[in-house]
Amino acid sequence: MSQKSILITGGAGFIGSNFINNLLPQHDDWFVVNLDKLTYAGNLENLKPVESYKNYSFVKGDIANRELVDYLFAKYNIKYVINFAAESHVDRSILGSEVFFRTNVIGANVLLEAARRHGAEKFLQVSTDEVYGSLGPEGLFTESTPLSPNSPYSSSKAAADMMALAFHHTYGLPVVITRCSNNYGPYQFPEKLIPLMIINALNNKKLPVYGDGLNVRDWIHVADHNRAVELVFEKGKPGEVYNIGASREMKNIEIVKLILKKLNKSEDLIEYVKDRPGHDRRYAIDSSKIQNELGWKPEIEFETALDNTIDWYVENKSWWERVISGEYQKYYKTQYGSD
Ligand code: NAD
Ligand code: DAU
Repeated sequence: MSQKSILITGGAGFIGSNFINNLLPQHDDWFVVNLDKLTYAGNLENLKPVESYKNYSFVKGDIANRELVDYLFAKYNIKYVINFAAESHVDRSILGSEVFFRTNVIGANVLLEAARRHGAEKFLQVSTDEVYGSLGPEGLFTESTPLSPNSPYSSSKAAADMMALAFHHTYGLPVVITRCSNNYGPYQFPEKLIPLMIINALNNKKLPVYGDGLNVRDWIHVADHNRAVELVFEKGKPGEVYNIGASREMKNIEIVKLILKKLNKSEDLIEYVKDRPGHDRRYAIDSSKIQNELGWKPEIEFETALDNTIDWYVENKSWWERVISGEYQKYYKTQYGSD
């Protein structure tokens, strides 16, 4: 059987590890090389189910390291790339943008250049709905909504998207881009809204809600996102962008209250804190293109899956206790001004 060698970057993070864990048991026709720098957000514990697979290899390294990336393309005869690797947290990008530019822009460019030089047959850039900026109370992001990113994080993702599309336009590199809304599920790093609130509630700590708590995000389970990524990788048309979302808009405060209710904790734990600078008000995705053209649709119901996610954090205390034991404490203090 001929195996496709695929470079998956950022595979030790929240979404990338979920992708690899689901993919490998179903695809012995793929050889997966997982290139991950193991930043604070990368965690090999997330990949326990696949670590002994014969068609899987982990490489610790930086996507912005041109020599390493070139070496891997040549060594494994890489013809396919899915780029999940990124600095992914908006608040950290506000604290300091440099590493966001290096990984999200330069790193993506290094991968695109290598893909071009080595004749890659598909390059999927995992992007985000945040590149479209912020919505008012009405309307949805479509693939033709102009890019208008507001944070250093989203600007770096938008720059990579434009570079990826330029590589398609200029060199004919078969690039596809996915732009997904807010993910939730197990193994999400507890700097993000849902796991942060679950863990603080479990520890009887205050739940820091930015501004008035009425900002809206459009939530999708990580497994629904990744089914879409796989479909776009296999069937997406080169040069095209596909929005991914599950049409589940929620105000932040509603999510926080759902978490407290499920954990049987008092709403007195809620603390309204200073707003995020430049905080986007509302995101909402129109995913009709991927639904109509590729036949994808979300399958995971929000309330049940949020309950299951909360249960996962309750049952996997040892995972998150390790995760929040080191660098996280320093970050938390800088971001929230308290331990
Ligand atoms: P994450 O922060 O959990 O994981 C990122 C991974 O990338 C980590 O394993 C980290 O070690 C790795 N990494 C960082 N810099 C690297 C570098 N220079 N070289 C190699 N590896 C590096 O992020 P996530 O939430 O899993 O997001 C994955 C991708 O999906 C990102 O591109 C993000 O922009 C995109 N995305 C995320 C969401 C979301 O809600 N989390 C929604 C839409 C799109
Ligand atoms: O929309 C997709 C994006 O979703 C991804 O591209 C990003 O990688 C991912 O981090 C996420 O960005 P957000 O900024 O929307 O997610 P975050 O979990 O940081 O915040 C969700 C909302 O909750 C946002 O309105 C800010 C608010 N919030 C967040 C934190 C961490 C709070 O009110 N308090 C908090 O402590």
